[in-house]
Amino acid sequence: MLTKYNLKMPREIFSGEDALENLKTILLANGVKKAAVFTDKGIQSAGLLDFPMDRIRAAGVESVILDDLPPEPTYSQVQALADAYTASGADFIIAVGGGSVMDTAKLSSILSTGEYTMQDLLDTPSLGRKHVKTLMIPTTAGTGAEATPNAIVAVPEKELKVGIVNGQMVADYVILDAVMIKKLPRKIAAATGVDALCHAIECWTSNKSNPFSDLFAMEALDLILNHIEPACDDSEAMDAKNKMQIASFLAGVAIAASGTTAVHALSYPLGGKYHIAHGVSNAILLVPVMKFNEPVCREKFAQAYDRCVHGAHTCETAEKKSAYMIQWMEEIVKHLEIPASLKEFGVPTEDLEDLVKSGMEVTRLLANNMREVTPDDARSIYWQIL
Ligand SMILES: NC(=O)c1ccc[n+]([C@@H]2O[C@H](COP(=O)([O-])OP(=O)(O)OC[C@H]3O[C@@H](n4cnc5c(N)ncnc54)[C@H](O)[C@@H]3O)[C@@H](O)[C@H]2O)c1
Ligand SMILES: [Zn+2]
Repeated sequence: MLTKYNLKMPREIFSGEDALENLKTILLANGVKKAAVFTDKGIQSAGLLDFPMDRIRAAGVESVILDDLPPEPTYSQVQALADAYTASGADFIIAVGGGSVMDTAKLSSILSTGEYTMQDLLDTPSLGRKHVKTLMIPTTAGTGAEATPNAIVAVPEKELKVGIVNGQMVADYVILDAVMIKKLPRKIAAATGVDALCHAIECWTSNKSNPFSDLFAMEALDLILNHIEPACDDSEAMDAKNKMQIASFLAGVAIAASGTTAVHALSYPLGGKYHIAHGVSNAILLVPVMKFNEPVCREKFAQAYDRCVHGAHTCETAEKKSAYMIQWMEEIVKHLEIPASLKEFGVPTEDLEDLVKSGMEVTRLLANNMREVTPDDARSIYWQIL
């Protein structure tokens, strides 16, 4: 348990019905002359960009769209977008997208002076200084990137994804409007929703958990466990979608105050080497890691049961409550039809040792896991999902 706590979060958050209407007010209050809108082609073709663009035009603010961005970009792709931002002469950053877009926008906000590069930030994240205000409009629910001081980039040379953490990247404004996730394809909604579930349960069971992170992690966990299925299954379930959007934001705040654990640590090489989507690799690892953690996290899981089960409480012992929680998570992953193993991603069993080596290098997150993860433990967890 930490004895010193720190809670960072965006300055102003707008949520609920017609939350996007606040965009004009934000731009006018900041005297914005030209807004740089970071997004990607998927968002554009889903017709989602019109919502914010209409409001930007209504505010009489000039804009430039920066959309040359693949999902889960490399650090060089982020550098190219940051350079395009600097050249654009814009004085405000708006991100309209999932974690990939938001992370790129956040990194661009601290790269805009050109005094250092992405490569420098990978070596020394604390170099970053923010020079422009940022507004995050998430379209997945989600990474929680709208709330965190983190940005994750792929480093192809190392076949790894690397997290850059710098408090200056925390957004100034966030708009959570469920209209942005209304038509999110089920497959993406499922993977990104389980990512948020991982953030909540990992932060709750993290060595870094503390009174601030617990507050956010537990509320997020309750909302996600009880609303993720309708939010993904039913395009009209706006209440459930709104709750997922709030929950993924809250889970992001929990990350900022605490930290994720072995699910995210062991997931990084799966994204870096095999390009498995972040939410999918976390979903594959969630249950094996929770089962591994169970002996030391039993009380924590039992407390989560007491808080998140709203029907009759049929489990009486901590052991039964803990088993119930793990089974609940397993059923969610199954219901959402997310692959349960790496088979369909063509990961050969011969790669096991490389995976163990790369996973064990993510010491920043492994250190947060309440049960120590040895190379033998990592090997056994990866073996279960191969
Ligand atoms: N910064 C953080 O704290 C943090 C936390 C977790 C994950 N991440 C990172 O975020 C990235 C993943 O982000 P993501 O899971 O949100 O996905 P994403 O941003 O990579 O988007 C995935 C795909 O979904 C499409 N898409 C997004 N929203 C849509 C919508 N509403 N309708 C239709 N299509 C839509 C995009 O166009 C893209 O093709 C990874 O790089 C991951 O490492 C960051
Ligand atoms: Zn995540």
